[in-house]
Order: sequence, then C-alpha cells, then structure tokens
Amino acid sequence: MKPETLAIHGTTAGNGFGATVTPIYQTVSYAFDTAAELADVFAGKTPGYIYTRIANPTSLALEKRLADLENSIGCIATSSGMAAISSTVLSLTRSGDKILAATGIFGGTVSLFENILPRFSIETVFANAANTETFISNIDDRTKLIFLETIPNPSLEIPDIKAIARAAKKFNIPLIVDNTSATPILVKPGDLGADIVIHSTSKYINGHGTAIGGAIIDTGNYNWRNGVFTDIKNTSKKAGPLAFLSHLRNLVYRDLGGCPAPMNSFIMLQGLETLPIRMKTHCANALKLANYLNDHTKVSWVNYPGLPASDSNQRVADQLNSMAGGLLTFGLGSKELSEKFIDSVKLAKNAANLGDAKTLVLHPASTIFHEFDEQKRIEMSVTDDMIRVSVGIEHFEDIKNDFQQAID
Ligand SMILES: Cc1ncc(COP(=O)(O)O)c(C=O)c1O
Repeated sequence: MKPETLAIHGTTAGNGFGATVTPIYQTVSYAFDTAAELADVFAGKTPGYIYTRIANPTSLALEKRLADLENSIGCIATSSGMAAISSTVLSLTRSGDKILAATGIFGGTVSLFENILPRFSIETVFANAANTETFISNIDDRTKLIFLETIPNPSLEIPDIKAIARAAKKFNIPLIVDNTSATPILVKPGDLGADIVIHSTSKYINGHGTAIGGAIIDTGNYNWRNGVFTDIKNTSKKAGPLAFLSHLRNLVYRDLGGCPAPMNSFIMLQGLETLPIRMKTHCANALKLANYLNDHTKVSWVNYPGLPASDSNQRVADQLNSMAGGLLTFGLGSKELSEKFIDSVKLAKNAANLGDAKTLVLHPASTIFHEFDEQKRIEMSVTDDMIRVSVGIEHFEDIKNDFQQAID
C-alpha cells in the first residue's frame, strides 16, 4: 500500500467489538491463568505481554504502523524523541567508544552527546555531514555509530545519506538517522542505506502539539550477526533479524523506563492518519514563505533547502522526493530586530516545538541553544539573529500577512 493508505489502514491492535480505531490498553500488567504460562513469557518461550514498561498492545500497533511507513522490519515506541536517541545510543556503545555525529543537529541531542555520554567515557566527534568526504574522514577504529538528521534542525544542511551509508557499511558501523523533520513521507532513510531510524513523534507525526513521543526503527539493513556487537549477536540466535530491537526491548528499554503512555500511542496513531496530507501542505507553505522572505528587502538572509540557491537544493530533489520540509530559518540582521519580530507576530506562536499544524516561531540562540556559548552556537549554525519557523498548515495568505505586519 502507498503511505496515504498505510497511515490510515496499517495494523491495529485487536479488539472484540469491531471498533474502527485501536483501543487504548490502559493497563500496567497482563494476567495469566497459571504460574507456568507467565513464567514461559518471562523466559521468552511464548510471546505475550508482561508489563507496559516492556510492551503494550496500543503502542505495538503504533510500532507496526511506523515500521511499515519506514519500509522497515520493526520499531519500538518511546516516551520521547530523546528517550529514543538515548536508548539507542546506550544499546550500541560502551566506555571507550566514539560516536561520529553531524554538526547543526538538535540541541538536546548535542547536549546528550556532550554532557551525559562523556560521564561514561563515550566521546562524540562532531563534523559537517553536508561534506561527505570530510565527514567520513573522521571515522576511526573506535567509532561505534554514526548519527545524522535527514533535515538537520536547525542548520537545514542536508547530508548525502546514501554516500555516508556506503562508507558506514564499509566499516560495519551502524548509521542512525533522525528522520523527525522529514518523516517517511519525504524520505525513508532505510531505502538509502541507513540502519536505524529515529523519530521524535512529538513533531509532525503527532502533528497537533498534543503529546510527546519517540520511536526507534530497525530498517533491516545492518547485519547484527557480524560480530561487532557480541551481545546483540547472541540475541540473534532467538530473534533473527530483529536481534537489535529484541536486545533493546529486553535490556536498555526495559531498564531505563522510556516507554510511552498507551494514551500517547493512541494520539500518535491518530496523528499518523493525516501525516501524508499535512506534510504536503507544510512543504508547500514553507516554499512559498521562503520565496516571500527571500524577496523581502528587510530580510537579511533566508535558509530553506527548497530554494534553488541553497547548497542542499539538489539533495532535496535526489533524496527528499522534491519536498524540502516545513522548517526554515531567516534573519533580520540583529538579535534585537529578530526578537522584535517574534514579539510582533499575532498568528504564529512563539514556542519551542516544531511540526505542529500551527505556525511556530522561535529564537534558537536564546532558547534551545542558550546553554552554549557564542562560539559553539556559530559552530552549530545558530546566529544571534536567527529566527526558526516551523511553517504550519494554515492558509498561506494568512501566514504571509502575519509575517508582513510583524516585519513592518
Ligand atoms: C530532530 C529532533 N530530534 C529529537 C528531538 C527530541 O524529541 P523530544 O522532544 O520528543 O524528546 C527533537 C526535539 O525538538 C528534534 O527536533
């Protein structure tokens, strides 16, 4: 089935009443008739639900639908995008290992890599992933995973996923791609060779700013039996190609407690149904707004990968189904003017989220990136006058009029 259909008709959890939506299984645990039956599920001899921190039928329906949309073999839903990233990284790394990550990615991920992981002697090297040669030249024998974003938030400098995946494969290093900003409607990173796909489902998948969530998806591209990850290889005897997810679910995910609330999985399933049509409108509105701002004499600069002048424009055509996403950044020349703009919008909301149906604006330097000093912010492509816009799905004329009056 095509994504428009899959998003609506994918797997649903069973219910005995013919309900047309997946029920919310609001339960902590699952009862069994005999001690032996529950013991068998604990021992992995028979499948079954034990405890919602490990698995839940509502979340499982979301997991299957996300895996199908990403053309992948399996998924684990998490309580947030950060839970998805931290659980994945902690499953694959040990003290002494190194991560190679793209610069210009989400500040929370940078903070995890820079502030938390070094406590466990896991080091991260950041490099510009838009330049494939320079980026992959940082791989060494300690590199245990590579981390990219499809449309990096906020740099919007799109990496060549296929080329980086080829290099990662040569060194048997799993390539992890955060596909939050593009969603499977624009690109399925697994089809380009990525091994694991991450989502903050809080964004476009939810689509309405109503619930936090995340997902870890195994594309099926990585050979978990190759001996690089011996603990996962041992799991593969039982779990086959799903060894990584099985290992994750029964260890790091179970023990760190990053499971979603069943109610939130239900909300994500509902959001998914309209994701394909919403993404098309987000992208169309963002392109129109980028062109409008680009032509405006009071606007100093505009960064949108859909603009022909953008260095990433060819990659939009090659990789993103010719849709450049709903995020753009622009500047008005100074921090003061950019803040004045944010204070002056009426329709757009000043909020630290993206992917909402509503247009959102944000001053990244003083919000998500406020903990980093100026030098570091510049390395992360965050200038003091940068305004990030998550372009919503309102009528374009209304968005444009709001921006016009605020710039005036
Ligand atoms: C690209 C990206 N990845 C991950 C996250 C973290 O997701 P969450 O807020 O759901 O933890 C965000 C949040 O803004 C994001 O933009």
